[in-house]
Parts: sequence; C-alpha cells; structure tokens
Amino acid sequence: MQEKILITGAGGQLGSVLTLNLQEKFGINHVIATDLYPSVGLGGHFEILDATDFQKLESIIVKNSITQIYHLAAVLSASGEKTPVKTWDLNMKTLINVLEVSRIHGVQKVFFPSSIAVFGNNASKDHTSQDQFLLPSTIYGISKATGENWAHYYYNKYGLDVRSLRYPGVIGYESIPGGGTTDYAVDIFHKAIHNQPFECFLSASTQLPMIYMEDAIRATIELMDAPKQNITIRSSYNISGMSFSPNQLFLMIRKTYPKFTITYKPDFRQQIADTWPHSIDDSKASKDWGWIPKYDLESMTESMIKNLKLKHQHYT
Ligand code: SER
Repeated sequence: MQEKILITGAGGQLGSVLTLNLQEKFGINHVIATDLYPSVGLGGHFEILDATDFQKLESIIVKNSITQIYHLAAVLSASGEKTPVKTWDLNMKTLINVLEVSRIHGVQKVFFPSSIAVFGNNASKDHTSQDQFLLPSTIYGISKATGENWAHYYYNKYGLDVRSLRYPGVIGYESIPGGGTTDYAVDIFHKAIHNQPFECFLSASTQLPMIYMEDAIRATIELMDAPKQNITIRSSYNISGMSFSPNQLFLMIRKTYPKFTITYKPDFRQQIADTWPHSIDDSKASKDWGWIPKYDLESMTESMIKNLKLKHQHYT
C-alpha cells in the first residue's frame, strides 16, 4: 500500500527534522507537513493547520487519503506552566481530534509523542521503570500522561494502531527547541560556537535524560516500522539516550572550547527538572523492537559542534 503521511507541529524542533526524514523515506509527495504558521525550510506539501480545528484536520485527511499521522503539535513543559488551562485545552483537543479522525477515516497508524515529563517526584530517579506509577508535576506532563491513556484506550477499544515514545530532552543542531525544560542543552552549544558565555537556567548538577536528534528520529521510525505484534506497550515506551548534568556537558564542550564559560541562574524550570528522572530504563523498547541508542555525551557533543560550525560557516 502506498503510504500518505500527515505531520502536525511540523515547524517544531523535532517536527522539522522528522518531516525531512519522512519525506526521504516515503517520497516528498507522500508527506503533508502542517503547522499553525508557515514554516521556512520545509519543502514539499505544507498546509496551515490548527489541529484543534476538527473540520480542517478532517478535510486534509480525507482529501489526501492519509494513512499515517505523526502528531507532534503540543505546548511543552516550561511554556505550559505559564498558561496551564490553555495548554491542557490545546494538548488534549489536538490529540483527541487526531485519534477521532483516525478512527472515523481508517487511518492505519498514529504516532503520539509522550515525554519523561509524565514522571513526577514519586518516581525513583535512576533507571526509572516503564511501569512506574505516573504522578506528573507539570500540566504538560499531565497532558502527556492522559494522552498515553487515550492512546491505550483507542487501541483497545477500536484497534487503532497508536504508537508512542516517552522522549527525553532532544538535542539537535538542525533546529531550535521552544518552551522546554531541557532547552538549555541545545542553547549552550550555540553560545559555545559563537565564543559567548552561557547562563544556564538549571543548576550545575541537575542530571536529566537526553537523546541526540538522530537517535530520536531513528527511534520514532523504528517504532513505527516494527511489526504490530511486537508492540506490547500501548501507552508509551520509555526510551533513553544518555544522561548528564549542565556541568558535565559544560566540561565536555570545554574540551573543544577551553575558554568557554558558564554561570548558573536557576529559574522556575529548576523546580520542573527536580521532579524528573535522572535516567530511564528502556529495556522494554530494546526487547520489543530492538532499540539501541547510538550517541553518548561525548559523541553527541562532537557531532553538535561539528555540524553547528558547518552551518555557521555556511551562513556567514
Ligand atoms: N524536552 C521536553 C521539555 O523540556 C520534555 O519532553 O518540555
């Protein structure tokens, strides 16, 4: 069957890179990228879509005979705390629209990104388990934990093939994150390559789970490609890449930029980070569909610096 893919949130940090990868995989004419605003740099078929608008979403799905949806539109953890009710409305309405339209129009597969933000202070911090009871601290985490339950429900009740990953903080040179608690781990590289000092909004020792963009994209595609019978988790899979603190990342960057400096000025995002795990147990993902991360702190740092320098040279 010829697949036809729809992406929401295609202008975002992950969405923009995933769009390019899906265009490569399925062919540029088989991917429809959508977002609230026009996106520069995304070639191919793009449509403005507010995914809270069921009718508009439905008309795009029907008109283009969509077979798979990657639903990336959401407000992230830090931004979400500023407008909790609006964040809940947006994150839930868009997901339920995607699930409903998929059920009604026979969309074959749906990808729903969840997050380490589903875990709260009750969870053990190290190698947090797949089956940990979820008590999130942010409205973003609450919307993701609830979304996992909706995904599970649509699979069990309607047989809709919804698949999901609990992403750690995503680090990539291709795009800029917006509104997350892990954003510092991208921002720091931009300062380093421009020989500027960095002020970190988390404390030096705040260890969080992270993943390199290339691994995050590969995990998404491997999960979506896995045989249906291998998928035993219909809420969301823990996945892990690496774990580090701002100080550990700083020291790694200093190997290339010995004069690079950092200061720490923790803000409200510190309280969010303090409720999240330090590291994640992703053994279920390894067992069910063979997940193995490729990048650790050192190789991620090397790749980030190399690629950001190339990009910078290209534009100057
Ligand atoms: N990177 C996200 C955030 O910080 C976690 O899902 O909100």
